[in-house]
Amino acid sequence: MVCLGNICRSPLAEGILKSKLPSNKFSIDSAGTADYHIGDPPDPRSVDIAKKNQIDISHQRGRQFEVSDFDRFDIIYVMDNSNYLNIIHLARNKKDALKVKLILNELYANENMDVPDPYYGGSYGFKNVFEMLDEACNRIADTLLSEA
Ligand code: 4NP
Repeated sequence: MVCLGNICRSPLAEGILKSKLPSNKFSIDSAGTADYHIGDPPDPRSVDIAKKNQIDISHQRGRQFEVSDFDRFDIIYVMDNSNYLNIIHLARNKKDALKVKLILNELYANENMDVPDPYYGGSYGFKNVFEMLDEACNRIADTLLSEA
C-alpha cells in the first residue's frame, strides 16, 4: 500500500487489508513515495478512524518505498495517480511496472480514480477515505482468498 507520506492513507489501507486476510498467508505493508515522515507514527486522525473501526494502526512507522519492494511484493497498490507515476518511474522492467495498481480500480475498473489526500482537510476526509479503502479492501481480500 503506497501513498505520498505514509502517514494518512496507506497506513489505513495496510491496517484494513490486514484485518481481512490471515497473516500466515499474506504479507502486507505500506510505504510512502516521499521521505517526509520516515519513522513517524500515522497521523492521529488515521489512528482515530481506524480505532473507531476496531483496527489498531498506532504501532506502524513511516518508511519510504524502495526498489527492493518490487521483489518483496506481488502487488503494489497506490492511492492516487501521482503515486502511480512516482512508483512507475522506479520500475526496472515490465514485470515491476505490471505490479503497480491504483487501488480504486478494484472497485471502478479502468476509471483511474484517486483516493483523495485527507492531510490538509478535517476529520470527515478521513472517514471518507476509510470507507473507500474498506470497500476496496473487501474486494481485494475476496479476490486474493479465492485465488489462494
Ligand atoms: P498521505 O498524506 O500521502 O496519505 O500519507 C500526506 C501526508 C503528509 C504529507 C502529504 C500527504 N506531507 O506533505 O507531509
